[in-house]
Amino acid sequence: MSSTKTNLFSPIKFGDLELSNRIIMAPLTRNRAAEGNVPQDMNVEYYRQRASAGLIISEGSQISPQGLGYPGTPGIHSDAQVEGWLKVTAAVHKVGGKIFCQLWHVGRISHTSLQINGELPVAPSALKPNGQIFTYTGLEDFEMPRALTTDEIPGIIADYVNAAQNAKRAGFDGVEIHSANGYLLDQFIRDSTNQRQDQYGGDITNRMRLLIEVTKQVVAVWGKDRVGVRLSPENSFNDMKDSNPQQTFNAVAKALSDFPLAYLHILEGDMMTGERQLDYVELRKCFNGYYMANNGYDLELANTAIAEGHADMAAFGKLFIANPDLPYRFANKLPLNTPDNATFYGGDEKGYTDYAAWIKA
Ligand code: PHB
Repeated sequence: MSSTKTNLFSPIKFGDLELSNRIIMAPLTRNRAAEGNVPQDMNVEYYRQRASAGLIISEGSQISPQGLGYPGTPGIHSDAQVEGWLKVTAAVHKVGGKIFCQLWHVGRISHTSLQINGELPVAPSALKPNGQIFTYTGLEDFEMPRALTTDEIPGIIADYVNAAQNAKRAGFDGVEIHSANGYLLDQFIRDSTNQRQDQYGGDITNRMRLLIEVTKQVVAVWGKDRVGVRLSPENSFNDMKDSNPQQTFNAVAKALSDFPLAYLHILEGDMMTGERQLDYVELRKCFNGYYMANNGYDLELANTAIAEGHADMAAFGKLFIANPDLPYRFANKLPLNTPDNATFYGGDEKGYTDYAAWIKA
């Protein structure tokens, strides 16, 4: 009998942190923080409802005012934000859940109207993304970002360290470094957005230097097994590309193997088109540690990925928006609610905390 085979319902341990299953809630921007980008009561309720996930990864939380890119996203840089998050983590822990804080700096995906004193968004290089950004007054064209000077890099790393310390004070179980989806760290890694001439630009060793330095410092704050890293090798979201994504991200996965990371979290394929060109089996083999697969997985695909040794866990986004009790529904093969795209970003409890649960959470 092979009933003990590892699957989504098997527990997994990051060092001394035990997750009760491998059904992970993906980080999801919902734009429902209060004034000052502070988590509020409805955010507490939303995360509490979803605490049966093996692990919740919080929505991206900016590490500094400069790291903000959208109205209503929570931060992890002020005391009021730490207080707000403390209520979230306490509620999740009370019902036996685990929660990591996703540390976010958007880089060029911002706008002067979202920045302190109307400053320009910063980036590795002065290269403007094509498209528009959602601001307090609606959609605006992207602006030409300002290239960070080499002297400013230690300040960015210090902001990650401060945010990592704040996440500890806020009662999180660990942190995930957001290095995906065209935000700051990804802008450094991919060559379409990095034309720097200093030690943070050029070959892949240089382009991933900022991620590696940030990871080193954040692991120093949290200790081993409490820090994950998220990458999205071929996601075109936010006008991104790389001339050789397989080679680039194989190298990043190898370099991250030197850390005692909790996990490597990969958004596989292109979130915009659903296309997959990279060999994720090859990428996975470059990383020595747990692999969390994301993007387009369902119960069956995730269990197959685990059975084949491709993934150790799977993260679910839209399915967790619509199904607060997703692990229960998976376990009992129950029908799933349909997510409502119109209420993903911003608004109130509608489309946020009012999705029906099969059992009252
Ligand atoms: C989004 O707002 O759709 C979004 C935000 C952060 C991500 C990805 C998508 O990393």
